[in-house]
Amino acid sequence: RKNILTDTFGRKHSYLRISLTELCNLRCTYCMPEEGIPLSPKSHIMSFDEVYTIAKTFVDNGVTKIRLTGGEPLVRKDVNIVLEKLATLPVELSITTNAVIVHRFIDTLKACSIRNINVSLDSLIAEKFNKITRRNNFEVVYNNILLLVKEGFNVKLNAVLIKGFNDNEIVDFINLTKTLPISVRFIEFMPFDGNKWNKEKMVSYAEVMEYVNNAFTKDEVLRIQDAPNDTSKNYKIKGYKGSFAIISSVTNPFCDSCNRIRLTANGQLKNCLFSNSESDLLTTLREGKDIKPIIQKAIQAKFKVRGGMDTLEKLEKPQLHTKNRSMITIGG
Ligand code: GTP
Ligand code: 5AD
Ligand code: SF4
Repeated sequence: RKNILTDTFGRKHSYLRISLTELCNLRCTYCMPEEGIPLSPKSHIMSFDEVYTIAKTFVDNGVTKIRLTGGEPLVRKDVNIVLEKLATLPVELSITTNAVIVHRFIDTLKACSIRNINVSLDSLIAEKFNKITRRNNFEVVYNNILLLVKEGFNVKLNAVLIKGFNDNEIVDFINLTKTLPISVRFIEFMPFDGNKWNKEKMVSYAEVMEYVNNAFTKDEVLRIQDAPNDTSKNYKIKGYKGSFAIISSVTNPFCDSCNRIRLTANGQLKNCLFSNSESDLLTTLREGKDIKPIIQKAIQAKFKVRGGMDTLEKLEKPQLHTKNRSMITIGG
C-alpha cells in the first residue's frame, strides 16, 4: 500500500513543521503588517493533546523530523507541556525561535533532547534590528544566541535580506562564523500576505555571492556538502569555525527535494509554504473521525513548485493565483 505521505511526484514527506501559536513578541516587517492580523479564536487553536495526536499520526506514517514554529513558539502558555509530549515521539524535535525568551527554556529544551535551534536575526546593529522587529530586544537576542552556543546547541541564524537595509551586513554576518560554530543563513525575502514584497527589495542568491566574492578570495570560499533535503546551499570560509548558507526560495527553488508539510496553529494542513489550499485536520479530529484520508488527499494535491507559483511573474501577482496567509500564521 502506498504511503499516505508520498505525493504524485514521488516526494516523501518526512518533515513536519508545526506552528504552535499565531502570537509573537516581535513584529517583523517581512512577517506581518504593522496593524497585526486577525487572530483565530482561542477555541480554534489546537490544544496540546490535539497537537500530540495529530503529530503522532504523522510520525506513525513516516515523519522523522518535527520543527516547532509560530508566531513565536515559546510564547505559547503551555509550550513546556507540548514539548514534553512531543519529546516522547520517536522523532527529531527542533525549534525555530526569535530567541527573545529562550534563556528561560534551556533546561526544558535539553530535557526534550532538542539539539537544533534556528534563530531569526536580521541585523547585527541594534537600531536596525529594532527597526525591522518593531521592538527593542537586540541585546537579549544576541546574548541568548551566545548562550545557546555555550550550552552546546546546534545553532543556525536566519537572516532575511532586504535590499538597502541589511545587505551591507552580509560580510559581518559571515565574520561571526570565524569564531562561532554556527551556520548563518541568508534568506531571499519571500512574498506573503501583508508583507509588501516586491522583487526589488529581495537580495538574490547571486547577489549574496557577489558580496562574498568581493570580500574573500576564491580559495577561501568553500562549497560544503548540503544535508539531504536541505533548504540551503552551504558554504564556509576556510579556517572559520562556522559556515554560511543561502536559502533561495525565489530565484532557485528547491522544491524537487521538498520533504516538508505544515500544520498551522489552528489545525490546518498546508501542503506547501505557498499553497492556499488548507485541509482542516482539527475539525475532523474533533468530530472523532480519521484524519488520515484527509492527509493523503492534501499530499496528493501538492504542486510541483511553490504551490503552483512556478514563475517569478506568478509570485509577483499572487492575488491572480492564490491568496496565502501572512507569514506569522504559517511559521516559515
Ligand atoms: P533546518 O531544519 O535546519 O534545515 O531548517 P529549515 O530551513 O527547514 O527551517 P527554518 O525554520 O530555519 O526556516 C528557514 C527559512 O527556510 C525560512 O525562511 C523558511 O520559510 C524557509 N523554508 C523552510 N522550509 C521551507 C520550504 O519547505 N520551502 C521554502 N520555499 N522555504 C522553506
Ligand atoms: N521571507 C523569507 N523568510 C522569512 N521568514 C519570515 N518571513 C519571511 C519572508 N517573508 C523566516 C524568518 C524565520 C523563518 C522561520 O522564516 O527568518 O526565522
Ligand atoms: Fe516545498 Fe513548497 Fe517550499 Fe517548494 S515552496 S520547497 S514545494 S514547501
